[in-house]
Amino acid sequence: MAPRKIIIDTDPGQDDAVAILLALASPEDVEVLGITAVAGNVPLPLTQKNARIVCELAGKPETRVFAGCDAPIRRKLVTAEHVHGKTGLDGPKMDDPTMPLQDQHGVDFIIDTLRAEPAGTVTLCPLGPLTNIATAFSRAPDIVDRVQEIILMGGAYFEVGNITPAAEFNIYVDPEAADIVFRSGVPLVVMPLDVTHKALTTKPRIDAFRAMGTRVGTMVAAWTDFFERFDMEKYGSEGAPLHDPCVIAYLIDPHLFKGRHINVEIETSSDLTLGMTVADWWRVTDRKPNALFIGDLHADGFYQMLTDRLARL
Ligand code: RIB
Ligand code: CA
Repeated sequence: MAPRKIIIDTDPGQDDAVAILLALASPEDVEVLGITAVAGNVPLPLTQKNARIVCELAGKPETRVFAGCDAPIRRKLVTAEHVHGKTGLDGPKMDDPTMPLQDQHGVDFIIDTLRAEPAGTVTLCPLGPLTNIATAFSRAPDIVDRVQEIILMGGAYFEVGNITPAAEFNIYVDPEAADIVFRSGVPLVVMPLDVTHKALTTKPRIDAFRAMGTRVGTMVAAWTDFFERFDMEKYGSEGAPLHDPCVIAYLIDPHLFKGRHINVEIETSSDLTLGMTVADWWRVTDRKPNALFIGDLHADGFYQMLTDRLARL
């Protein structure tokens, strides 16, 4: 089967970085048409730089990286240096990238690509706030029906919030953008905290990264060592949730994941629950299902895939 054509929209972030590495290590499954950076974990100048650092680490400097939106649609940017560090890729020392940033704006790249590629053949993989995707949909409504699928990391139901008691970070940063995407009618696969909190970077798993003996394995181990301190302190868990790679892993092997096709809507007005993904998991309403909301994964299978694929780079 031909590889899935994808655009990765991202706010690197150590977990975004691992997701990008997994995609670039899997050309038989995914063809990365481009990577669009968005403001999120850290401001846009850093997320676009980090995306290029990761492409060079993967040995793929020819990958096209674009800078997208530097702020949410209508709110002030909220960042997450407390989790990812000042650079967004804290942990190991990283050299500045030498590969170029594309001149075109990330939103224009998304629009032009969806118009140029045959309808229904491009999958969008947002790993951060949904600002770029929603801006593209608002600026060019004709592209919405041309999207094959959106597989995104964001939201939470049973796991509730990680940036407020009610909201997960990617949705909370730009709830208006998330509302546009969740109402768009595009087939959605949602990787919420409910599943990513079951994909923990335990010590044996980090040791397996380090045991690769490659620069990629060493960097991923250093990133996850840094990244996990926040979640271990907060949740008392035995590792950090590796959120964003779940999106790419689903594309490679969806059978690793389990979920329900349900209705999910976004809170955009209440100060108390802003950015909450109101997931009708128990189908107690007659609201139309709009998302495959993933609740579980085969964690060992996920990490086996990750380790096998990253060892290729
Ligand atoms: O809440 C987790 C999400 O927020 C992940 O995508 C992480 O990279 C941050 O963007
Ligand atoms: Ca992210």
